Formats: sequence, structure tokens, C-alpha cells
Amino acid sequence: MEANMPKRKEPSKSLRIKVISMGNAEVGKSCIIKRYCEKRFVSKYLATIGIDYGVTKVQVRDREIKVNIFDMAGHPFFYEVRNEFYKDTQGVILVYDVGQKDSFDALDAWLAEMKQELGPHGNMENIIFVVCANKIDCTKHRCVDESEGRLWAESKGFLYFETSAQTGEGINEMFQTFYVSIVDLCENGGKRPIANSSASFTKEQADTIRRIRNSKDSWDMLGVKPGASRDEVNKAYRKLAVLLHPDKCVAPGSEDAFKAVVNARTALLKNIK
Ligand code: GTP
Ligand code: MG
Repeated sequence: MEANMPKRKEPSKSLRIKVISMGNAEVGKSCIIKRYCEKRFVSKYLATIGIDYGVTKVQVRDREIKVNIFDMAGHPFFYEVRNEFYKDTQGVILVYDVGQKDSFDALDAWLAEMKQELGPHGNMENIIFVVCANKIDCTKHRCVDESEGRLWAESKGFLYFETSAQTGEGINEMFQTFYVSIVDLCENGGKRPIANSSASFTKEQADTIRRIRNSKDSWDMLGVKPGASRDEVNKAYRKLAVLLHPDKCVAPGSEDAFKAVVNARTALLKNIK
């Protein structure tokens, strides 16, 4: 009898996780969290003083997740307050403002601060990071484009979302994907599943796209000295074309970089005898 009885499904264990927000002051960390948890937006800037703490419950697959959110102040003044909140974190929401290049450039310093506070035994590999390129509603002021942000994030194995706390665009999708990734991590014994742990393009490809984006002229873009010969230009071009060809390279921004390299070569060859 017993053997034929349908097996009673074990109730899924509830899970408790800790997430923190990081990024410069005024980029919209608190507003992103408020938009998700309270479905509202406050346009007046109310700087977070030290840390704001909140608890929310979410459902991922058949598990109930209790999320402890520590919303950090971005201002350097609060470093002493926030530094003790980095440890025992499963997920980080890393935010920049697409209209403030400084806030994008500061992302590396935020990672460095976290690494320093976690100490030599802290392991950042097994934390889920989601990068929010926020304030995408402010299209006129945008100065960090999607491929630049995505390249930075994905080359580190981080998730990337374009968000607006004001309109709500991207917010639910971002949190949903973020929580699913954290649950996957927890169910994988606290280790990032291998499929999610590395980028689908190489560091050389990412660095080359960044270098091309920041190059000052066509010589610089191809990585040859001004006055280089046709042969040198063609050789440099071929190397870059193999690395960045859209059929071979899936790194964000590779198509634009490839086009820029083709144009640079054409422009240089026109003037070389
Ligand atoms: P600190 O707590 O000082 O670290 O700042 P924060 O990153 O928490 O910024 P906060 O969420 O307080 O938002 C800063 C300002 O940006 C506020 O005036 C918000 O109304 C505004 N803001 C936040 N997100 C958006 C957005 O997506 N679009 C627009 N247009 N404004 C936003
Ligand atoms: Mg805040």
C-alpha cells in the first residue's frame, strides 16, 4: 500500500539572502529599490545617510526568498559606516547614471572598496553582481552608451540591465534575473554555476574594443605609428579584423569597432602612396 501512495512533495526550503547596493551618490540606488518594493518614484533627492535596511519576500520558482537589502550611501563621507556591511553578501546591485561618466568610471573603485573590506580571504567570485545603467529616461544627457556598459559588465561575468527608476523600465526584469541567479548560486552550494561564470568573449577582444573606442586618430586605432607603410597598415588591419569580425566576436560593441577599423584603414590607405 505504502509503496503505491504518491510521494508527498517535500515543501521547498525558504531561503534567506543578503543583497547590497553600491555606486556613487545620486545615481539612483535608493530609487531603484523603492520602485521595485513600493512601486513608486520620488523625484526629490534624499541622500541615504549611511545605510538603509529593508526586508522583502520574493518567490523564485517554488522557493520563498527572504531578501535583506542593505542600501548603501554612495557619498565618500559615509565610508566608515558602510564598510562593515560588505561581508556575507550573495548579491550586489552596482549602479551608475548613464548621464554621468564619472559614476561609470567609478565602478572599478567600488569593486576595489568591497574587495578591500572583504580582506584577503574574501571571495568575490561567488557573488552575483548586476550592473544597472540607470536613468535611461534622460536620453538627452546620456554619455555612456549601452555597448560600453555591457562590455564592462559582461567582461567581468556580471549581469547588465538598462534601467529607469523613474519610468520603471527594466526594474522588474533586473530584480527577477538577479534573484534567480542568486538562487541558482545557493542551490549550487554557494558557487557560481560554470555557465554563468565567464564571459563569452576574450579579455583581448574586450580590451581591443575599449582601445579602439578611445583612440585619438586612425593610426592610433590600427595601432601603427603615424607614417606607417601600406603593408604595416594592412597587417594591423588584418589582425584586428580576425579578432573583431562580427561572425567571430560577440562582445558588445564589436560591430561598431569593426566598422571603425574598416573606415580607419580606408582613410589611411587613401593617403599612402
Ligand atoms: P545616495 O543615497 O546619496 O548614494 O544616492 P542614490 O544613489 O540612492 O540616489 P537616489 O535614489 O536618492 O536618486 C538620486 C536622484 O536621482 C533623485 O533626485 C532621484 O529622483 C533621481 N533618479 C533616480 N533614478 C532616476 C531615474 O531612473 N531617472 C531619473 N530621471 N531620475 C532618477
Ligand atoms: Mg540612496
